[in-house]
Amino acid sequence: MSFTLALLLFALPFSHQRHAAMKLKCTACHATAETGAQAGFPALAKCQTCHPEMAERKIPSARVYRVKDFVLFAHARHSQAKVECATCHGEVYQMETLKVERPVTMAACVACHKERKATIACNVCHELGQ
Ligand code: HEC
Ligand code: HEC
Ligand code: HEC
Ligand code: HEC
Ligand code: HEC
Repeated sequence: MSFTLALLLFALPFSHQRHAAMKLKCTACHATAETGAQAGFPALAKCQTCHPEMAERKIPSARVYRVKDFVLFAHARHSQAKVECATCHGEVYQMETLKVERPVTMAACVACHKERKATIACNVCHELGQ
């Protein structure tokens, strides 16, 4: 591959689909998705393990899922309860562009909590009295 072509390719946004063949675990890049509140994003150094020539870029380029500040959400609790990443985010390795699979609305959160017999107490998802 020519150097110029390499530069052009690396100007593209990150695509999960393009990385599907390697069958990387989600936690290879989203290190705290099973153990933390946030899943987190990889540092450029992670990309450079396979793309040593990759230039500085903004990671993430944009956000897809974001809960409002007054909502309490933790990935770890869902991982412990064996809720799969794909249940909320879809099969990202098959997506040309990452789109919202399950909206981050109160109705969507509560629907699954009811289905899974998880709590729907207001103060679990909202800090009350502030
Ligand atoms: C484990 C190795 C590995 C890691 C880590 C990795 N990549 Fe890749 N990447 C690849 C391989 C292999 C290809 C070629 C895939 C192909 O030809 O379709 C590729 C292709 C690409 C492409 C160009 C292909 C396209 O058409 O979209 C971009 C851009 C890219 N990677 C960005 C990134 C970014 C950004 C990161 C870090 C968040 C990253 N990669 C981390 C292995 C890796
Ligand atoms: C090679 C690194 C890498 C791997 C492996 C990876 N991701 Fe990602 N993921 C990224 C990067 C980089 C972004 C930000 C993309 C951008 O800049 O648009 C991202 C974005 C996301 C987002 C959007 C987050 C938001 O709100 O903006 C979700 C959801 C996601 N990944 C889920 C997953 C899941 C689920 C897996 C495993 C099936 C996975 N990812 C595997 C690198 C990776
Ligand atoms: C119960 C639904 C649910 C499950 C299961 C889930 N996520 Fe998320 N994910 C969310 C929500 C909601 C957000 C927005 C969180 C925020 O704004 O703080 C999010 C945000 C993210 C982000 C953006 C960065 C961040 O930390 O906010 C990434 C990356 C991500 N998830 C990856 C994953 C991966 C990988 C898994 C599996 C290990 C996973 N998620 C499991 C609902 C889920
Ligand atoms: C696909 C199903 C599903 C979705 C969607 C979902 N959850 Fe959950 N959630 C669960 C399960 C299952 C548990 C674990 C309950 C337990 O441990 O008893 C849980 C636990 C929690 C807990 C910890 C509860 C406790 O007892 O401490 C919080 C907080 C939470 N979820 C918030 C959210 C928010 C906010 C959303 C929407 C952005 C959301 N959840 C979406 C299934 C889901
Ligand atoms: C499983 C998590 C969860 C539970 C339980 C929950 N909420 Fe919410 N709530 C949310 C999320 C997520 C949003 C943000 C919705 C959005 O961004 O569109 C929200 C938004 C709100 C809002 C802002 C207005 C709105 O509709 O956007 C109010 C007020 C609210 N919740 C009150 C409550 C009350 C009262 C209860 C108890 C009866 C409750 N919530 C239980 C997740 C939850």
